[in-house]
Amino acid sequence: MELTASNISFKYSSQSDYILKDLNLTIDNNKVLGLVGDSGSGKSSLCKILSSFILNYEGEVRLDGKPLPKKGYNPVQLIFQHPEKVINPKWKMREVLNESWQVPQELFDEFGIQESWLNRWPNELSGGELQRFSVLRSLNPKTKFLIADEMTTMLDAVTQVQIFDAVIKVVKDRNMGFLVVSHDKDLLSVICDDIVHLNDLNNF
Ligand SMILES: Nc1ncnc2c1ncn2[C@@H]1O[C@H](COP(=O)(O)OP(=O)(O)OP(=O)(O)O)[C@@H](O)[C@H]1O
Ligand SMILES: [Mg+2]
Repeated sequence: MELTASNISFKYSSQSDYILKDLNLTIDNNKVLGLVGDSGSGKSSLCKILSSFILNYEGEVRLDGKPLPKKGYNPVQLIFQHPEKVINPKWKMREVLNESWQVPQELFDEFGIQESWLNRWPNELSGGELQRFSVLRSLNPKTKFLIADEMTTMLDAVTQVQIFDAVIKVVKDRNMGFLVVSHDKDLLSVICDDIVHLNDLNNF
């Protein structure tokens, strides 16, 4: 399976300059691909294009040759840097997860989630604890590609490794594609099969 971005050009309507120009990228479902690039170069914007959060771009994003569905579950899931921005503060953690899928007990263990956290509100968890839920929520079995945009940037090294180990195990078990955006080249060199630089993808 492949997620392909073809001839993607994009600029924010409030800005005069394009940030992505004639960009082509293929993400394979059996590889972990790293994406690096300068701050402000457009990595997060590309992630949002790949996962349909941004739709007003030129070019095409296709999953196995087909456009992504406009309705229903998106098989390309984006994990953001700040989970508190995307988790409904009015739901307890159990509801946050159940809205997406029934998470099996073994994944709670692998992600280091304690049973008692399920009864808490999002603001009663630390950033790292909350991010584990955000990641687990995105691992609905319908997910085919996962995009992690600085998913563990605000976490300590031990938590970072624990979360990546748990995600990569699921990714490999299910043959999912995984794009990892990070400024941490050491992390990427450990977990990725290939690493691409955004500047090398743009054709200005
Ligand atoms: N909603 C927006 N409206 C207008 N401009 C934006 C918007 N979001 C981002 N930008 C601008 O688009 C450019 C690319 O931003 P983007 O967030 O994609 O970069 P990035 O590579 O992810 O950077 P970082 O490594 O700092 O996260 C930046 O110049 C940024 O200021
Ligand atoms: Mg970014």
